Amino acid sequence: MESNRLMSRRDLLRVGGGLLLAAALPPVAARAATPEAYRVVAAPARARLAGPGRPETEVWAYNGKVPGPFVRLRQGEPARLLVENRLDEETTVHWHGIRLPNTMDGVPGLTQPPIRPGESFVYEFTPPDAGTFWYHPHANSLEQIGRGLAGALIVEEREPPTVDRDLLWVVSDWRLTDGERIAARFGNSMEAAMSGRVGNTVTLNGRVSGAEPFRAGERVRLRLVNTSLARIMALRFEGHRPVIVAIDGQPSDPHEPEHGRILLGPAMRVDLILDMQGEPGKRYDVVDDFYDGLSYRLTQLAYDKEPPIRAQPLDAPVELPRNPLPEPDLASAERHSLTLQGGMMSMSGMMGGGMMGGGMGHGGVWAINGLSMTGDGHAGMEPALTLKRGRSVILTLRNDTAWWHPMHFHGHSLRVLTRNGVAVPHRQWQDTVLMAPRDVFEVAFVADNPGDWMLHCHVIDHQTAGMMTLLRVA
Ligand code: C2O
Ligand code: CU
Repeated sequence: MESNRLMSRRDLLRVGGGLLLAAALPPVAARAATPEAYRVVAAPARARLAGPGRPETEVWAYNGKVPGPFVRLRQGEPARLLVENRLDEETTVHWHGIRLPNTMDGVPGLTQPPIRPGESFVYEFTPPDAGTFWYHPHANSLEQIGRGLAGALIVEEREPPTVDRDLLWVVSDWRLTDGERIAARFGNSMEAAMSGRVGNTVTLNGRVSGAEPFRAGERVRLRLVNTSLARIMALRFEGHRPVIVAIDGQPSDPHEPEHGRILLGPAMRVDLILDMQGEPGKRYDVVDDFYDGLSYRLTQLAYDKEPPIRAQPLDAPVELPRNPLPEPDLASAERHSLTLQGGMMSMSGMMGGGMMGGGMGHGGVWAINGLSMTGDGHAGMEPALTLKRGRSVILTLRNDTAWWHPMHFHGHSLRVLTRNGVAVPHRQWQDTVLMAPRDVFEVAFVADNPGDWMLHCHVIDHQTAGMMTLLRVA
């Protein structure tokens, strides 16, 4: 079953988690006693990225699907995910954004040994938060994600908002040569020092999309997930007024996006409520205009000819129930800062700033607080921050570079307090904070999850070229 199929809420409730996954284990009868179980196999596969009738592309995929199987878990209920490695190289799976025990975080060398070819690993955790998440490898990430290993993970609310349909759009960027082969040579150092490997083909649920079907008058929850290596998106829904109700899986105060553009950096998720107020039979563009001069149409909202299913937009609250996030105590919080450095256009600054002796020795072109951790994560590096378990922390994130960075924190969600000195107007929590050049953010959280956690830019070229460090909660 394709994850891009349109599903009604009723369908979803009927099939539950198991059926949506091609290779799911037999469905479980007693939910309370038996965890939700999935089997996810990483292996080479083929996918028709450009759409039906177009050539197939050799990819690496979970369960032969791009994106991988759509994993649906229930808030507060145990889950068991068996990952089998049928690639020719080591892998792991990171459950991006889920606040889980450190040993289940999927960072090779740091939280678990890598899964070797032919071997498997069982991930077990109980997701505390409902919302939209995703999963991907954390080993040779640039190539493994870039060749297609990624999937969406949804944790269902106990009481979801009333909508007619709950839709998922996994948007991914690919660099194809001849419109069909994935360009080799991952890790070009020139790109790594600039915007990263931005490709030339954007898919929606695994294929280039001409149009997506809608019905006039319906209310849709639309979950956006950006699994790109480097492409930042700014989506505009022409003729529509989407309302953001969650960012990175965490409910936010419902609000319309600034200038009508939904910013979606790599690894970010945004949940929208969309009232389909367009005219029956018409089509409306969804445009991504993030990069200057490179705007393109992601897809179209294609209304069928049927009359609206209701005259007025549904009169029901759009706000999502909050997750059990620990509220940081700002008055007593410890303060720390992390400064992002490096990249093209600031190399001279780095040379002059004494950074050459300060840890740039791993070939890193990027650094955090003067230190470069490269690759996909490994043990034996001193943490940039050591926090006492249970402490409230206010972090100042400073982007001293000329480039954008979606900064991802493992193991915790962060409450975003200010951006460039201005209070963020809507209550919002994020695990991936998209920073524009020279941005300064203040974020706060309770360091309640013990362990060594990665913290890195999710432009994977930046991560592997040094924009990564470790946060220790002990
Ligand atoms: Cu989504 Cu360390 O990654
Ligand atoms: Cu970056």
